[in-house]
Amino acid sequence: MTAVSVLVAALALLGPSLSSRVEGSSLPAQAQVINQKSFNVLNATQPPAVFNAESLFVPPGHTEESLVKRPFHVSKETDEVFFVQNAGAKDAGTGLHKSAIIEKISLADAAAVSNKSDAAGLVKVTTVPSSPMVINPNGATNYRGQIILTGEGQGNNTPPALWLMNPQKPYNTTVLLNNYFGRQFNSLNDVAIHPKNKDVYFTDTIYGYVQDFRPAPGLQDQVYRLNPETGAVTVVADGFVHPNGFTFSPDGEYAYVTDTGINYGFYGMNYTQAASIYRFDVKKDGTLDNRKVFAFVNAGAPDGVHCDSWGNVYAGCGDGVHVWNPSGKLIGKIYLGTTSANFNFAGKGRMVICAETELYYATLAADGNYVESEM
Ligand SMILES: *[C@@H]1O[C@H](CO)[C@@H](O)[C@H](O)[C@H]1NC(C)=O
Ligand SMILES: *[C@@H]1O[C@H](CO)[C@@H](O)[C@H](O)[C@H]1NC(C)=O
Ligand SMILES: *[C@@H]1O[C@H](CO)[C@@H](O)[C@H](O)[C@H]1NC(C)=O
Ligand SMILES: *[C@@H]1O[C@H](CO)[C@@H](O)[C@H](O)[C@H]1NC(C)=O
Repeated sequence: MTAVSVLVAALALLGPSLSSRVEGSSLPAQAQVINQKSFNVLNATQPPAVFNAESLFVPPGHTEESLVKRPFHVSKETDEVFFVQNAGAKDAGTGLHKSAIIEKISLADAAAVSNKSDAAGLVKVTTVPSSPMVINPNGATNYRGQIILTGEGQGNNTPPALWLMNPQKPYNTTVLLNNYFGRQFNSLNDVAIHPKNKDVYFTDTIYGYVQDFRPAPGLQDQVYRLNPETGAVTVVADGFVHPNGFTFSPDGEYAYVTDTGINYGFYGMNYTQAASIYRFDVKKDGTLDNRKVFAFVNAGAPDGVHCDSWGNVYAGCGDGVHVWNPSGKLIGKIYLGTTSANFNFAGKGRMVICAETELYYATLAADGNYVESEM
């Protein structure tokens, strides 16, 4: 308590020129710069049973003593403040499986067979040999000429991560983020870039655990935001059962989060839980506000979610892709009679839909929003 009030006073002293003072030598003696970007990617992280909310995180290059010695921790480029907490007890955990892969199809190939109702075997599906390999990729979106993917992680020692991948050969990858102050994420699921502030928003949820390839989760399921320039990672929304898909409206005014709460992976369904899309206002500073229920689906749960250029909202559900107008009225379905976990616009009037073991190609009078995924 005392530490917090002193902290506020110290910040008030620093005033509006905090960032320039941080660069120079005029930080108060009790303050130091802790650059969050310097630990966005850690060489090794430990599973939640070992390193968790009761563990003391010491950023690389620091010691427990150095952290305590100057307890006012100031980020370099954002005016954020950290303070030091104490540690608790530790345990161990296990679990390991095979990774999912990234694949691609040529849209020209798909267009060429688009008049056939069943083009099974006619479109070549190519495995993308990402290198180093993205482990258990899940969501993806374009980002500055490259692709950002969420990796769900694997077992105890391959933490979930955000990966950047070169969309051209040799498909080289770079890990952008693999921890939250040393804590492993549960299993990162979906990712979207805000059209204006360009920050990376992503969901973290327990599916790696209920699909038996990740240890028991060590964080609540929630939505995060990464500023790739400063490395700042913040939580922008919580209070879900299992937050899953994430997207923005074309103007960036709204964020949509799907909650697949009824789906507990290998452990079955719980019909009394969420199968809903929530809408938030995106404030000027990029935070999310005014959560409201946008839609509740009748079949399965809404998984991947995207907007078209008019702001209509599409989500992959238990029987195909459902479409709502911006006020949440269901205006149509692309009915497949099977679950569609994800789909995306692929340029003007084209959509590729993933439905378990099948891929569908749809042509329609709607165009994708600002971001388009590679499949
Ligand atoms: C992480 O690994 C890199 C490359 O292997 C090495 O240069 C660096 O010193 C390591 N950092 C820590 C904190 O172990
Ligand atoms: C599909 O059918 C439409 C209408 O019959 C036709 O205009 C179009 O050229 C066909 N496309 C292909 C790729 O065969
Ligand atoms: C891939 O390699 C190129 C050439 O070294 C580099 O410029 C690019 O940043 C790399 N991309 C990723 C995502 O690692
Ligand atoms: C379903 O969820 C509710 C609410 O959390 C819980 O009370 C109930 O036990 C769950 N049922 C099953 C079968 O897991």
